[in-house]
Amino acid sequence: MGMQPYDLLVIGSGAAGLTLALKTLEAKPGARVAVLAKNALTEGSTMYAQGGIAAVLDATDSTEAHVADTLDAGAGLCNAEVVRTVVERARPAIQWLIGRGVSFDREGGDYHLTREGGHSHRRVIHSADATGRAVQTTLAERIQESGAAILDYHIAVDLIRERLGGGRRGRCVGAYALNRKTGRVDVLPARVVALASGGASRVYLYSTNPDGSTGDGIAMGWRAGCRVANMEFSQFHPTCLYHHQAKSFLISEAVRGEGGRLLRPDGTRFMDEYDRRGELAPRDIVARAIDDVMKRLGCECVYLDISHKPAAFITAHFPNIHATCLQWGIDITRQPIPVVPAAHFTCGGVITDTSGHTDVDNLYAVGEVAFTGLHGANRLASNSLLECLVLGAAAGEDIAARLDDIPPPPPLVPWDETGVTDSDEEVVVAHNWDEIRRFMWDYVGIVRSTKRLERAKHRVRLLLDEIAEYYGSFRVTNDLLELRNIAMVADLIVRSALSRKESRGLHYTIDFPAPDVIAPPQNTILTPKNFSARRAAEAGADDGEPG
Ligand code: FAD
Ligand code: SIN
Repeated sequence: MGMQPYDLLVIGSGAAGLTLALKTLEAKPGARVAVLAKNALTEGSTMYAQGGIAAVLDATDSTEAHVADTLDAGAGLCNAEVVRTVVERARPAIQWLIGRGVSFDREGGDYHLTREGGHSHRRVIHSADATGRAVQTTLAERIQESGAAILDYHIAVDLIRERLGGGRRGRCVGAYALNRKTGRVDVLPARVVALASGGASRVYLYSTNPDGSTGDGIAMGWRAGCRVANMEFSQFHPTCLYHHQAKSFLISEAVRGEGGRLLRPDGTRFMDEYDRRGELAPRDIVARAIDDVMKRLGCECVYLDISHKPAAFITAHFPNIHATCLQWGIDITRQPIPVVPAAHFTCGGVITDTSGHTDVDNLYAVGEVAFTGLHGANRLASNSLLECLVLGAAAGEDIAARLDDIPPPPPLVPWDETGVTDSDEEVVVAHNWDEIRRFMWDYVGIVRSTKRLERAKHRVRLLLDEIAEYYGSFRVTNDLLELRNIAMVADLIVRSALSRKESRGLHYTIDFPAPDVIAPPQNTILTPKNFSARRAAEAGADDGEPG
């Protein structure tokens, strides 16, 4: 009680959260900003991004072409206005990053642009094959110099909404967060809260993402009364290193962009049999083709071969991939790389506009946690970091412009631990984690069916009840909080997938193997039961699907 409120509490320290925080501080120096990270400040998907950032920077490229490629990958579900807004703001976003100190690869006098699946031009600016590391570490340095409070190893538990008329339908006024160093849950009051907590790909057994991608922000936003959209569109990256000891290491799409070929175990190419763009088809098509080859041949992986290129070219463009594969005994200058698809990106999320506004007043969402309409049914490669930068900046500017008009939060109630004890059954948490991720992979993966989705729905409902009981009885831990969130996100994914009676983009089901060509393409919007009636009227939505 009595803690001075922050002006802005940012939940997440990846490209989206740090851009939002820095932009707010640039426009409003002296604002009291806190950045929460559940692990180290630099840990999150941003740190592991490889290929780069899509932007029209070459004279032979055009905004129209980038817009068209994004719409094409999105399979009829992108919001064309949002796509144009993001694509048009790419150049200033890259200039801002360069101004903050991020360095990108050059060739001759210009920036080197690589190519990735679904792009009709070379337009991916990059820092070798570790672009995310360059962005993440530079922005982390800038935020540490900025005067913002850095609350690392703090995992947000839930958002706090002001009580109105006995309920909790008011504005967002802060969050509860477990300090992982002390084990205490702190109450963090704030005028504005921004969710920038990344995606949910760790809901699947095999994922390219780091451990923390458990959809916490989507689950917290949903519990706080935000609608979520398009959760069925989980993107599987076609090429994750397949090695029994290597944990989730991506082989960038840029390897295919620079000439890498996909091979069956017998050394024959197959992508031309699936799409005229071959290895450079959008990744939903490539991932499904690989899945099909693996199922037909009963093989554990396929191979990605770039060894026909000069060794010097490979080590210059892909130093990180070369060194990591070498650690596992694979010399990519001479040998093909064993690869499999893995869950990579969450296209759906908390619904926002292009300034990051959610359904709850003073709650923003940016980056992979958000659904803005940019990605549609399938994200185009390297459009995610772009979205984090462009819309993170827009949200930061919007917050700075509004801050003076937002009253401070009322005194908030501390976290209540009466009636809970330390768990003596941690095994339940570990078991449930494993079960969810396994059935999501088996039943809600690259190729789905109604029967498998129904099975998953049944399982997830049982687990949600069990986890709720456990949550109500024991002191919270990081693992329990993440488990509660992945179970909730799994439920949202399964419900969304069941409601889409067609195949489109990343959602492929054998029961409806083609897109519905009669009805116009629709987003899947789920509405929580505590969605505000005022917001419902504004959005023309029903008030009250079960949360
Ligand atoms: P993240 O970078 O994931 O950051 C999330 C932050 O939220 C972290 O700080 C985390 O600690 C924090 N957090 C989460 N939950 C909580 C909580 N409950 N409490 C407190 N903090 C919390 N995209 C591209 O455009 N180009 C690429 O080349 C590219 N390559 C990729 C390669 C890999 C291996 C991966 C995994 C992704 C790649 N992507 C790429 C996708 C892109 O990196 C991500 O979509 C993007 O970085 C997400 O940024 P973010 O800021 O939204 O979230
Ligand atoms: C990659 O480098 O293949 C990842 C690019 C992306 O996810 O946008």
